[in-house]
Amino acid sequence: MKNILITGANRGIGLMFAQSFSSIANTVYATVRDLNNCDELKKIKNVEILELDLLSKNSIKTFCSELKDIPLDLILNNAGVFQDEQMEETNLDPDLWLDEVMINAVGPMTLTQKLRENLMSGVEKKVIFISSQMGSVDDNHSGGYYFYRTSKSALNSAARSLAIDWKADNISVLMLHPGWVKTDMGGLKAKLEIEESVSCMLKVINALDISKTGSFVNYDGKKLEW
Ligand SMILES: NC(=O)c1ccc[n+]([C@@H]2O[C@H](COP(=O)([O-])OP(=O)(O)OC[C@H]3O[C@@H](n4cnc5c(N)ncnc54)[C@H](OP(=O)(O)O)[C@@H]3O)[C@@H](O)[C@H]2O)c1
Repeated sequence: MKNILITGANRGIGLMFAQSFSSIANTVYATVRDLNNCDELKKIKNVEILELDLLSKNSIKTFCSELKDIPLDLILNNAGVFQDEQMEETNLDPDLWLDEVMINAVGPMTLTQKLRENLMSGVEKKVIFISSQMGSVDDNHSGGYYFYRTSKSALNSAARSLAIDWKADNISVLMLHPGWVKTDMGGLKAKLEIEESVSCMLKVINALDISKTGSFVNYDGKKLEW
């Protein structure tokens, strides 16, 4: 791996990915929303920190033009939000819903599409979308969480199309569930430590090749239902 892009790298799973990749990458391009809120990231070697807000079309456009001509071996779409906690099904806020779909699905997809030439000039040509089992329609037995579930379902559906459309270019695309992880998002009751989730996902990313493109898998590599 030479050049790796990781979104949402100032905390949680993204920060652990940046720490893990820094020793094997030439450069880790790590995105944050606020350059004044990424002290841990600043301590890591081989990291170039860039601003990106997936809620903003302009931010995505500016960010991609900043990366122009830089070959990328791996795009790790990690940034995401979960804002459903206080929502009842009788009182869904459409603006918040659309924001969540933008950050979790439309943003990462448009970002990745704009960076196609960067991937084409990289060697590994891998795209990871950190998805969620909560985006699985088959696996939904408990209801609720309309924003998060639909945003990750949309992400899975769009990423599956991208995998098919880019297969001829030898670009491998994977939708990856990190497990229930102890981060700000996952909370203290989560089952996995960040280190365990990320070390398992690194093996899955390493083993990714074009024969697996378009799959939706767990952090341990097992296939998940759609
Ligand atoms: N933790 C779990 O149990 C779990 C389970 C399934 C899937 N996931 C997925 O794993 C990924 C990482 O989650 P995490 O647990 O590490 O979450 P986290 O600790 O809450 O971190 C989320 C990251 O996303 C960034 N982000 C939020 N809104 C953004 C925006 N508009 N534009 C760009 N970046 C933005 C955050 O930046 P700021 O610091 O600026 O907010 C932060 O760096 C997410 O896609 C999440 O859906 C997590």
